[in-house]
Amino acid sequence: MSVERVFVAGAGLMGHGIAQVHAAIGKRVVLYEPDVARAEAGRERIASNLDRAVAKGRLSAADRDATVARIEATSDLGRVSDAELVIEAVFEDVDVKSALWRDLDRRAVAGAIFASNTSSISIDRLAAAVSSPRWARFVGMHFFSPVPVMPLIELIRGSATSDDTEADVRALGEELGKRIIVSADRPGFLVNRILMPFLGEAMRTLEEGTGSADDIDTGAKVGLNHPMGPLELADFIGLDVCLGIMRVLHEELGQEQFRPPNVLVDLVDAGHLGQKTGRGFYTYPRG
Ligand code: CAA
Repeated sequence: MSVERVFVAGAGLMGHGIAQVHAAIGKRVVLYEPDVARAEAGRERIASNLDRAVAKGRLSAADRDATVARIEATSDLGRVSDAELVIEAVFEDVDVKSALWRDLDRRAVAGAIFASNTSSISIDRLAAAVSSPRWARFVGMHFFSPVPVMPLIELIRGSATSDDTEADVRALGEELGKRIIVSADRPGFLVNRILMPFLGEAMRTLEEGTGSADDIDTGAKVGLNHPMGPLELADFIGLDVCLGIMRVLHEELGQEQFRPPNVLVDLVDAGHLGQKTGRGFYTYPRG
């Protein structure tokens, strides 16, 4: 099945990027938030990302305008009705996601692909929110931030996800220019299962006073050739997001390496969530 119309629920950090990459390859995108001002802010953010690409000479002004024109910002969930692909990228909370999927189930066309951008919640658990004929079309499509830059999609197969659904997502991934990896529906899937213990150990190393934040990050950047050090990356992802994923991993797998470090819990409790709040392991200029 070819996908031409995409409905993206959630216009935050991930949702706006997901909407952008689909519009950039010619898909018609509806970007949904319950508050229309937030949907419009997501569309504005895409326009300003594309302005930067125009300024760098990587995109023509005409292509920027055409891409933005393919995105409709809405607060009307009914606009999902003609989408062949529905991507949910809302707050990482099973109740919030399940309630939205129940509403989408009532409004979407039969046979639409239902994809969650969850970073840690079980695909089977989310699929349980929709009617059983949809289970074969329910899949995880986990994008990485910044979505326009990171060339990976982690495809997560639930126990009922069909081969046709995997084939459709693979074909779309190719159109998007993204590499696809496939994970079983296990806690943290592939990438976060590997990443979170790494970030957690960097935080514990800091907590113990083994080294400074700058030296820990320099170690990873210069010694391992990572683009960002682990503490810098945690700030970039969002400390609340990291904590949420670590909690799922620790609860479900039990092992000590997944336990959220105290320094992380304390920062989140204090409202220091990383780049988005201006303070985490480092401080950031506002805006
Ligand atoms: N949106 C769009 N484009 C962006 C961007 C953004 N937020 N940030 C940077 N870019 C683009 C820039 O425009 C630039 O493009 P050109 O080369 O075409 O000009 C390119 O990315 C490089 O940017 P910069 O030169 O400004 O900065 P950099 O070289 O330091 O790279 C980075 C920035 C791409 C973010 C790089 O530091 C990096 O790859 N960091 C690691 C990111 C990462 O690991 N992401 C995954 C997080 S895990 C996750 O998302 C999943 C989860 O479930 C937790």
